[in-house]
Amino acid sequence: MAKTKEWKCVKVDWDSDGITWVTFNRPEKRNAMSPQLHYDMEQVMLELETDPDCKVIVISGAGNSWSAGMDLKEYFRETDNNPQAQFRSFTSNRHWSWEMLINSRKPSIAMVNGYCFGGAFVPLCNCDIVVTAEDAIYGLSEVNWGIIPGGIVSKVIVDTMAYRDAQFYAMTGRTFDGKQAVQMKLANIAVPKEKLREETAKLARELMEKNPIVLAYTKQAVRAVRTMDVQNSYEYLMTKIQALRFMDKAGTRETGMREFLDKKTYKPGFQSVKAT
Ligand code: ACO
Repeated sequence: MAKTKEWKCVKVDWDSDGITWVTFNRPEKRNAMSPQLHYDMEQVMLELETDPDCKVIVISGAGNSWSAGMDLKEYFRETDNNPQAQFRSFTSNRHWSWEMLINSRKPSIAMVNGYCFGGAFVPLCNCDIVVTAEDAIYGLSEVNWGIIPGGIVSKVIVDTMAYRDAQFYAMTGRTFDGKQAVQMKLANIAVPKEKLREETAKLARELMEKNPIVLAYTKQAVRAVRTMDVQNSYEYLMTKIQALRFMDKAGTRETGMREFLDKKTYKPGFQSVKAT
């Protein structure tokens, strides 16, 4: 059922078909991430994780910005001398933009509509897929105002981008656009801004054709082996594949083989088997 819910700094729209549009909603501050925005996102991510109406999470920003990074005033300056407040907001940030996003069983798409700076690279890189407006502006601006790309920004950029690109943009603070983001594999697809929502919805619907538990295990497996050696990857993946056969109560694997080998009703090379 289509519905909308608003937090103080985040708005969530549920489409009736399962796409959930999460919007950072501080356009007047270019969606800079204040402590409140982090608290809201923590709640939103927890709610969506257990909501059967949410099949794909799309994260975007209101106005002309995805997010201008951490709020320099509220996240940094106002907590500099308040260790308790700082711990709370830093932890909340880590929870949703890192732990909850990477461990989520729901597919996540960052739909980058405009500015994306500094700390916003953490949720950006931790979403599974990135669809960007061609003219979106990206920048690792930390160096410009006297800090390093911290809060795991340096880690997520070297895990996602080529080392040379990560180092170049971190050191120069130069900006780049959505087309360049695709060239350097920070984003998957760049489209003209007026097509951004339509193309993102198309991709989300494609993901929704897959069995959700198979999709969840797939994204977890691809992410997990990045930091494992070959032997551990093999052991992990063989165990994971058995776990999936147990967890997939729809029996997608058996249905897929039956439909392809016996009934010859579909080609797994080109499409998903329909659930029976
Ligand atoms: N933190 C706090 N406030 C911000 C931030 C931010 N990161 N970004 C924008 N704002 C505020 C501005 O202070 C301004 O507030 P005001 O209206 O009360 O004066 C309002 O948002 C609008 O910002 P403008 O600069 O007027 O908007 P403009 O469209 O001209 O520029 C841009 C947008 C390019 C994003 C610019 O605001 C900017 O450079 N922001 C900082 C980007 C950045 O370096 N982020 C931090 C990265 S480091 C990190 O995240 C750890």
